[in-house]
Amino acid sequence: MTAEHTDTADVVVERLDAALRLTMSAPQKKNAIGSGMYLKMVEALDEAAADASIRAVWIRGAGGVFTSGNDIDDFRNQVDSDDWPAARFIDALVTFPKPIVAQVEGLAIGIGTTMLLHCDLIYASKDTRFQLPFVNLGLVPEAGASYLLPRLIGQAKAAELILLGGSFGAEEAVTLGLVNNALPADEVARAAEAAVMVLVKQPPNAVINSKALLRAPLTGNLRDRVRDEIVQFGAGIKSEEFTEALTAFMERREPTF
Ligand code: COA
Repeated sequence: MTAEHTDTADVVVERLDAALRLTMSAPQKKNAIGSGMYLKMVEALDEAAADASIRAVWIRGAGGVFTSGNDIDDFRNQVDSDDWPAARFIDALVTFPKPIVAQVEGLAIGIGTTMLLHCDLIYASKDTRFQLPFVNLGLVPEAGASYLLPRLIGQAKAAELILLGGSFGAEEAVTLGLVNNALPADEVARAAEAAVMVLVKQPPNAVINSKALLRAPLTGNLRDRVRDEIVQFGAGIKSEEFTEALTAFMERREPTF
């Protein structure tokens, strides 16, 4: 992975009517999210939260791919602090008061799946591959997934997704309640846009208050768990297990633990 790859990574932020659309784009890395991209999304979310004329956020990935998750090349030395850009992004998402619509296509790996736990309406293409490969990498889940998943999909299914770390499809994501609809690829953008267009016309305070009420049963000590996860995630990055997982990924071979 070369610097040239990092240079093309960006998040395109566009104002569309009363919505802010964020498009993750790192074409050589399947839209893996590096520090610069996280920080740009934090800035956009902060702006959207503070600006009363923005009523919803729409998040997607460029080129028919949502994201391959954390840029594993980028995060190795910076995980164990609140300043880690991904930690700041997670905090901005967890506390974001307005609705977030996700348009998910192709890949939703790692934080590509866990960020959806903080989105409100999620439309996925039928061919999307979801995966939580944290344990596979010698890590623990982040973004509050260890807190939210058992509550949302039950303990057994959460254990399956986290401990076995296999991928699952959009139809299963709908059955689990993680996604609203699994749609043909050419209908996903339209579905996301239609939801955004309804949201921006709804009474804004009622939307914000209702989102807060809907989230309340899930929040509890979520932020403490998010912090615990990051501490363990940071320790994981320094572990032999992670080193072996990463080396195997680079060498395109099966890791041995
Ligand atoms: N971080 C950094 N680079 C990544 C990446 C990530 N999360 N995911 C993919 N890439 C890079 C690959 O290294 C490859 O780079 P190269 O062209 O320089 O070799 C390029 O993106 C294309 O990936 P490739 O593996 O060839 O594509 P694929 O379609 O066969 O597989 C994935 C795509 C996403 C399934 C696979 O790349 C993968 O498993 N990536 C790791 C995902 C991950 O573990 N994310 C969570 C991190 S916590």
